Parts: sequence; C-alpha cells; structure tokens
Amino acid sequence: MLKETLQRAALEAGRLIKERFHSTYRIDHKEGINNLVTEVDHASEKLIMDTIRAEFPDHFILSEETGEIVTDSTYKWIIDPIDGTINFANGIPLCCVSIGIEKDGKMILGAVYNPFLDEYFFAERRGGAHLNGRAIQVSTKTDVWRSCLVTGFPYSYLDRPNSPLDVFGRFIRKGVPVRRLGSAAIDLCWVAAGRFDGFYEHELQAWDSAAGFLMVVEAGGKVTDFGGRPYSPYQPHLVASNGLIHKGILDVIHDR
Ligand code: IPD
Ligand code: CA
Ligand code: CA
Repeated sequence: MLKETLQRAALEAGRLIKERFHSTYRIDHKEGINNLVTEVDHASEKLIMDTIRAEFPDHFILSEETGEIVTDSTYKWIIDPIDGTINFANGIPLCCVSIGIEKDGKMILGAVYNPFLDEYFFAERRGGAHLNGRAIQVSTKTDVWRSCLVTGFPYSYLDRPNSPLDVFGRFIRKGVPVRRLGSAAIDLCWVAAGRFDGFYEHELQAWDSAAGFLMVVEAGGKVTDFGGRPYSPYQPHLVASNGLIHKGILDVIHDR
C-alpha cells in the first residue's frame, strides 16, 4: 500500500509538471535572486500531499514549499515537488519529482520520476534499486581521474576553504568531466544507474537527497558526508559514488 501510494504520487505529480511545462504560470522568487518557485511547484506539492493524506492522514510530512506537517507517526514523507526548478522555469526538460519515506528515522523507500524521459526510479531498503522495473547498479570504474562525475552549486556561494568552485577547479584542471545537470535527485539516480561514477554537493536539503541517496545505496554504491561518515539527509554535504572511487573524491574535496 505504501509503495503503491508512493508510486502513484510520484507518477501523477510528474505527469502534472510535464503537462504544465509549456503553459503560463506564475514565478516567485525565494531568498536570492535566482532561487525560484513556480505555481507548478505548489500544484505538484498539493497533488502529492493530497494523495498521501487520502491514504495515510496521520503520517509526518516534510515538503520543500510547505515545510513540516508534524505528527507523532513513525513514518515521514520527504518531498521535493520539482527538483530542478531552474531547469523547469527555463524550459529545460531535466527535472523530476522526488519522494522519500522514512520509518523510525531510516529511509525505507524512495521514488524519483523524471516525466520528460519517462524514467521512474524506485528503491526499497534491502530490496534494490530499479529503473522502470529493471534492477540497476552503480558503475565499476576504479580510478577517480578516469571517472565521469556530476555536481551542483548552492544558490548563494559561500567563500570558504575547499568551496564548491575550488573542488570543481581541481577536477576540471585534471581533465575530469564534471557535469552540472541542475537536479540533485536526478544526479543521484544517474549514479545509481551507473551513468555517473560519482556525485558531490556542498549544500543540499533533505528533500533534494532523501530518495536519491537510498537509490545509490540500494544500487550497490556508497553515500557519505564530506567526513566519510554515513550520510544523513539532515546535514548539507553529500558524496555519492560507486564505492570504488569514493576515497578519491573525498581526497580531492579536502585537497589531500
Ligand atoms: C536544487 C537542485 C540543484 C541543486 C540545488 C537544489 P530545486 O533543487 O537539486 O541541482 O544544485 O542545491 O536546491 O531548488 O530545483 O528543488
Ligand atoms: Ca531540490
Ligand atoms: Ca524543489
């Protein structure tokens, strides 16, 4: 039941954002001039929350645009109604709906749907990761300098040692292809599917990574914070990889 509701919410919200992709919609600015939220983000969020509440009215919800709906349930839904809003608002068809479910503080289910490629990624704790029903696995590359990576940059750039631009520069100067798709949830799913060997980002929120981090783990990969400790979506730093190049990415981040 939980899985079906999760899938229905992700697929229907995905269809909604695709239908409204070429329509006219209001765009508002959050803090920072380029941090946008559209009417479609709110519509997608409402559809997802209505779907959850119809089946599980007592579950805890954490959703990007609404914040927390606190209950004493052991289940918590973590929702990003559009991951990749800047892509969406610029007509770049690379964005998705991302929903993770925690039980007793552990991520148990994750769904990411990119309606533009019709790709439904689904992961279940100890049940593997799947793309449109087929099992997926991380890549097997062992050399970080021969890998294909992806990253993202925070909206407000923080000037500090080993900042996002410093780390990016270290990889780029060595000729490592580091892509920037603009959707952390898709970045994580594409690591899980073996398209990228690794992903790192400095300032993520729980809704960006909740579903995608389970996807990578269940596809046989590794996800940690920048200290190499097990990942929690409630802290900002994330490194996800096939496991084999994980230390290599951490060494570049810390300039070791
Ligand atoms: C953003 C995307 C982007 C990442 C940002 C996120 P949004 O989410 O995941 O790839 O670099 O840090 O905030 O705002 O499109 O939901
Ligand atoms: Ca996001
Ligand atoms: Ca979002």
